[in-house]
Amino acid sequence: MSLDLAQGATSMLGGHLLSISDLGSEGLEEILEMAERFAEVERRSVRKVPTLKGKVVASLFFEESTRTRLSFETAAKRLSADVLSLAVASSSVKKGESLRDTVATIDAMGIDAVVLRHRSSGAPTQVAGWLPTARVINAGDGSHEHPTQALIDLLTVRQVLAEQRGIASAGTGLSLLEGLEVLIIGDVRHSRVARSQILAYRLAGATVRLSSPGTLLPASLEGWDVDVVEDLDDALTRADVVSVLRIQDERGSGSFVPSIGEFHATFGMSVARAATLKEGAVITHPGPMVRGIEIASKVADDPRCLVLRQVTNGVPVRMAVLFLALSSSAGRDG
Ligand code: NCD
Repeated sequence: MSLDLAQGATSMLGGHLLSISDLGSEGLEEILEMAERFAEVERRSVRKVPTLKGKVVASLFFEESTRTRLSFETAAKRLSADVLSLAVASSSVKKGESLRDTVATIDAMGIDAVVLRHRSSGAPTQVAGWLPTARVINAGDGSHEHPTQALIDLLTVRQVLAEQRGIASAGTGLSLLEGLEVLIIGDVRHSRVARSQILAYRLAGATVRLSSPGTLLPASLEGWDVDVVEDLDDALTRADVVSVLRIQDERGSGSFVPSIGEFHATFGMSVARAATLKEGAVITHPGPMVRGIEIASKVADDPRCLVLRQVTNGVPVRMAVLFLALSSSAGRDG
């Protein structure tokens, strides 16, 4: 595959990816198709292309991460970019340096993109306003959004649906996702993944339903374009995709439910509940999973649970996002 930046499109607004709402359905489709092309690179013996040679990507994670950080950094390296990775725990942030000064310091070294995870909702948008040329990719901000995770979920579901029909996923656009019934279960209130999933699945023409204890639903669902399910067990029998979310203890969610055992009994993806799913239905989970709480251990290991396949797709999706973000930039010297 030969790809150079001139072949990139400009469907990502301003080259940043701060929210799924930065993408129209064309932008969403373009990322999924580009990710399929990069997935092919991942299957080669030499898993590297020169596309972003000479570009510098800074990885700034102010919150814990395993898969998101590793896959963004792997994606940048597969595209031959140089990666500056800030270990926040041992950085000057611990000496009281502000986010603005940290970002300005890194930018002064000459960067083309920043991948940012931060506990404050809206931090990537602020950073995008401070940087004159570099592109900002949101890798999860507070309980606001996690756009690349939603893109991974859609790509993975599209691939599985294509396999079920015996067709290639690449080239199917959004058609396989249109009309799907997606059921999101768990801590929607604090989940940035849920917000991005809702926007992305709606953009693709799927229906989205939520099932959650009342205390773990957002205070208002105005403008969300979703239904709240009254009867989880009935909704499960009709869902095509079940997205299971972790209780975000670090955002105080533990105090929103009377007990974790009760949450598991009422909303957990148990073996009994998984047995009621219709044929062909799949379960997604962004990880990390907490076995025995939002998902039973046996269900986590069930072939219908796509969690590891989602991780695998993390690299090509993030390659596509970095490629498209940087292809819409003239570059620091351009
Ligand atoms: C999610 C996150 O950090 O928002 N994980 C991820 O990036 N794959 C979900 C979570 O932490 O529950």
